[in-house]
Amino acid sequence: MNIAVVGTGYVGLVSGACFAEMGVNVTCVDIDKEKIERLRRGEVPIYEPGLDEIVSRNSREGRLGFATSLQEVIDGVEVVFIAVGTPPDEDGSADLRYVLEVAREFGRSVKRYTLLVTKSTVPVGTSAKVRRAVLDELEARGVAVPFDVASNPEFLKEGAAIKDFMSPDRVVVGVDSEQARKTMSRLYRPFLLNNFRVIFTDIPSAEMIKYAANSMLATRISFMNDIANLCELVGADVNMVRKGIGADSRIGSKFLYPGCGYGGSCFPKDVKALIQTGRRNGYDMRVLQAVEEVNERQKSVVFRKLAGEFGGVENLRGKRVAVWGLAFKPETDDMREAASLVTVAHLLEAGCTVRVFDPVAMAECRRRLADAVEYASDMYDAVLEADALLLLTEWKQFRLPSWGVVTRSMRRPLVIDGRNIYDADDMAAQGIIYHCIGR
Ligand SMILES: NC(=O)c1ccc[n+]([C@@H]2O[C@H](COP(=O)([O-])OP(=O)(O)OC[C@H]3O[C@@H](n4cnc5c(N)ncnc54)[C@H](O)[C@@H]3O)[C@@H](O)[C@H]2O)c1
Repeated sequence: MNIAVVGTGYVGLVSGACFAEMGVNVTCVDIDKEKIERLRRGEVPIYEPGLDEIVSRNSREGRLGFATSLQEVIDGVEVVFIAVGTPPDEDGSADLRYVLEVAREFGRSVKRYTLLVTKSTVPVGTSAKVRRAVLDELEARGVAVPFDVASNPEFLKEGAAIKDFMSPDRVVVGVDSEQARKTMSRLYRPFLLNNFRVIFTDIPSAEMIKYAANSMLATRISFMNDIANLCELVGADVNMVRKGIGADSRIGSKFLYPGCGYGGSCFPKDVKALIQTGRRNGYDMRVLQAVEEVNERQKSVVFRKLAGEFGGVENLRGKRVAVWGLAFKPETDDMREAASLVTVAHLLEAGCTVRVFDPVAMAECRRRLADAVEYASDMYDAVLEADALLLLTEWKQFRLPSWGVVTRSMRRPLVIDGRNIYDADDMAAQGIIYHCIGR
């Protein structure tokens, strides 16, 4: 089977490489010529564990190729996936311009029956717009080429994307024709050996499932952040509370970790977009509005604790602050909407000198913050002469540091843990002034 995946970012490259791994012939298409050149040279432009190996093996064996336009490859494929970005518009709704541009290119170049599948996260009703955009181009050409549209939202997590794609909890496919259903069943059949389910739905439901899933997960996080903040005020320990409620099988133990707010390329924008879909349909998504507000506040929680420790923001001027962790979560170099960006902005505004370290996101941080911060060569170099250390991403290598080295390097042994990875008693035993979330 031959397919094209348009958009070679986190989702497009992982999907393309994993389909190729299962024996499908895949061409990954991107308008970013430099990205495609790098991929052709065998360089993977993002950090995602295991991706290099799958990309290089499948490229070498001829199942994975790269192109800069859909037009070049469309004649040879049965299915075209749209996996381009859908960033938030000014009002928070999803910006569909890239998705619709791919649909128009499809309409301008398709010559025989082809299935056009949207994998990007898009609001309910987008597949209808995609179909309309294709039809407009076909009408302009004066031809009537048969095609179907389908919705196949992606649930992979950055940092575990290969595993998630290869053995997902479920695959959701929205279709409105038997031919589309058969094609998608055939494409996913090799993965079925891994025992997951393909759930076929109508197209609007498939589009809604993606937003509802991300919004539910974001809700759990904001809920736990609220509970954690209240725990601090009433003298409870959120870790114990988390274990106590997670043991209830109706609740379950996943996604109950408080911290310094959710970030990344999905939750913030998808929550905003669903609120906006509500508005456009005359419905107030009140729970999600609160989820977002709580998250915005939580992204400053580490900074507020630091300021509290120094007796006010005004006393932070001239202080040296070390930051461990820049990526929005471990095992990725993605810093989109990361809590680190909000925290570093507060620190700089307060007049601090900020020295950062992240195992993989240093280049991405340089691209975003240039010389506004100092870049450490490793985690211990980051804390030299620091007045405080802020832990913002729970990378494994930060979990068991040599505290003796850290405290000897720091001017003041103050650690603020935005991810609750350290034990308060251990820290006290090391002579460290320690703050975390909800304890
Ligand atoms: N990143 C995730 O973890 C994740 C998970 C599930 C779903 N999603 C969704 O998947 C979609 C893609 O996300 P991403 O993180 O991979 O985005 P990304 O920004 O990493 O990649 C998008 C790519 O599309 C390319 N592109 C834009 N317009 C194009 C065009 N007309 N033709 C060809 N290429 C074009 C860009 O150059 C870029 O390389 C989004 O809708 C996102 O919400 C993302």
